[in-house]
Amino acid sequence: MKIAIDPVLCSGCNRCAQVCPLNFSETPRGKPQVADPVLTCFHCGHCVAVCPEEAVSHDGLSDLRFTPLRDLPAPAQFMSLLHARRSRREFTLQPLSREEIDALLTAGAQAANGLNRRDVGYTVVTEPATLKELSRRIGKQTLWMAARLESPLWRLVFRMLMGRGYKELEPLFPLFKPMASALPRGRDMILYDAPCAILIHTRPGDPCGAENAVYSGANILLAAEAMGLGACVIGFLTEPVNRSQDLARLAGVPPGHKVHTSIVAGHPRFPYARGIAHPAPQGADGLSRGSSSPTA
Ligand SMILES: Cc1cc2nc3c(=O)[nH]c(=O)nc-3n(C[C@H](O)[C@H](O)[C@H](O)COP(=O)(O)O)c2cc1C
Repeated sequence: MKIAIDPVLCSGCNRCAQVCPLNFSETPRGKPQVADPVLTCFHCGHCVAVCPEEAVSHDGLSDLRFTPLRDLPAPAQFMSLLHARRSRREFTLQPLSREEIDALLTAGAQAANGLNRRDVGYTVVTEPATLKELSRRIGKQTLWMAARLESPLWRLVFRMLMGRGYKELEPLFPLFKPMASALPRGRDMILYDAPCAILIHTRPGDPCGAENAVYSGANILLAAEAMGLGACVIGFLTEPVNRSQDLARLAGVPPGHKVHTSIVAGHPRFPYARGIAHPAPQGADGLSRGSSSPTA
């Protein structure tokens, strides 16, 4: 790996050294130096992107495209997008095009990423029969569980078998029966007859895997809204796929990978007339804001 600074182009602003003190050293009133040897490089591209004179070259960044910074949304436009983003569950029959799916995945790939390893995996399911079968199997399991949960004895069994997981899932129990029993009546409340599901996963043991996947998913949700598409996170897909190798195989998730979030996407049947602005978190001291409800 070779990083170099063109001494003719370099103006000596030392920004490269400020964004990457690991591999560049700042020279007051002089030109920065590249460490020799280069020690740890996350291949983040910051040294090249920050340089106004295009004086920094790095031969390990051939995967990256350095783009001109234009068409950035004004803060108010970005806030409008945040207010407009909705969990969309009503889709037309129109499949997503290859370009639309590529654009969603490209948005996912722009997210912040722990250690910049960029090893988030995306499994995209568009085959209608597979989507239907995923809904059917998840619905069947959910209905089975809903029936058992009507018995106090079974609830006790689940509580013992699932430990803390039982408490976490408990608020969802009232949803199980109405969701799953709608399916045989032709209404899919698991994947909502969406033409596309994206499961976002990482290898086992990735210390930043969950966060990497969820930040990528958040990008996909916002990109979908900006593109006029609809998208919704589906915890009812993530959790069953992680519990069942059969479902993971059916979806096409690589063996051993953990799915951290799943999203369905499609063309929305109708627009929303208004955005929703949630209240900003309130806090007297400005430091500790947000929910203070007990977690135990
Ligand atoms: C972790 C997570 C799991 C979710 N799982 C589901 C789901 O299984 N089915 C569903 O219809 N919506 C699901 N949602 C969407 C939420 O219900 C939705 O975000 C919430 O009601 C707020 O609506 P909004 O996204 O339009 O602001 C999930 C959202 C998150 C963040």
